[in-house]
Amino acid sequence: MKFFIDTANLDQIKEAQDLGVLDGVTTNPSLMAKEGITGAENILQHYRDICEAVEGDVSAEVIATDYDGMVKQGEELAALNPQIVVKLPMIAAGVKACKYFSDKGIKTNVTLVFSVGQALLAAKAGATYVSPFLGRLDDISTDGLNLIEEIRLVYDNYGFKTQILAASIRNTMHVINCAKIGSDVMTGPLSSITGLLKHPLTDSGLAQFLADYAKGN
Ligand code: E4P
Repeated sequence: MKFFIDTANLDQIKEAQDLGVLDGVTTNPSLMAKEGITGAENILQHYRDICEAVEGDVSAEVIATDYDGMVKQGEELAALNPQIVVKLPMIAAGVKACKYFSDKGIKTNVTLVFSVGQALLAAKAGATYVSPFLGRLDDISTDGLNLIEEIRLVYDNYGFKTQILAASIRNTMHVINCAKIGSDVMTGPLSSITGLLKHPLTDSGLAQFLADYAKGN
């Protein structure tokens, strides 16, 4: 299972990278705005900085909602670095642009996916990644995990190569449950990764080992 961090915060990206378990980064316009990164040039430079900080795939989202605009912006983003994955919204123009980029061998991530039918379209268009939003479904009392299970079933039925990227992850249980049902990737905040480290028996066990060692030295 790949671990992506879902942030535009460079310090958090570097912390996850330092842990040695990071496979990539996802961003979106809201995450960029949260870090105060605004304006086309600053955003492009920030993507360059993120690519320098990590080794894996970096999803960079287009803002255009029409096909020509998506192609233009996606090409500009892809030209920044081979690590860039062009992130496209699940609308008709996004599906069409996904096919365009997949035919050109440029990696894509189809985002804002909330149904199996949308995930099927993304796979048919050759998406590298499909991003079902687990947390946002849970927020409206709909089982987000069930959606990921159903996409897994459909993709396995036909051998689609599109990787399921569980997005909108909020906590460690989301990560663990996604791993149990075979999500290929998860993207979440730093806390959803570092939270996996924690267990009180690890802490008390280590404290005891160190105390016992100290007695003999
Ligand atoms: C990732 O690609 C998505 O943009 C992100 O996971 C959305 O998460 P949120 O629902 O916490 O905003």
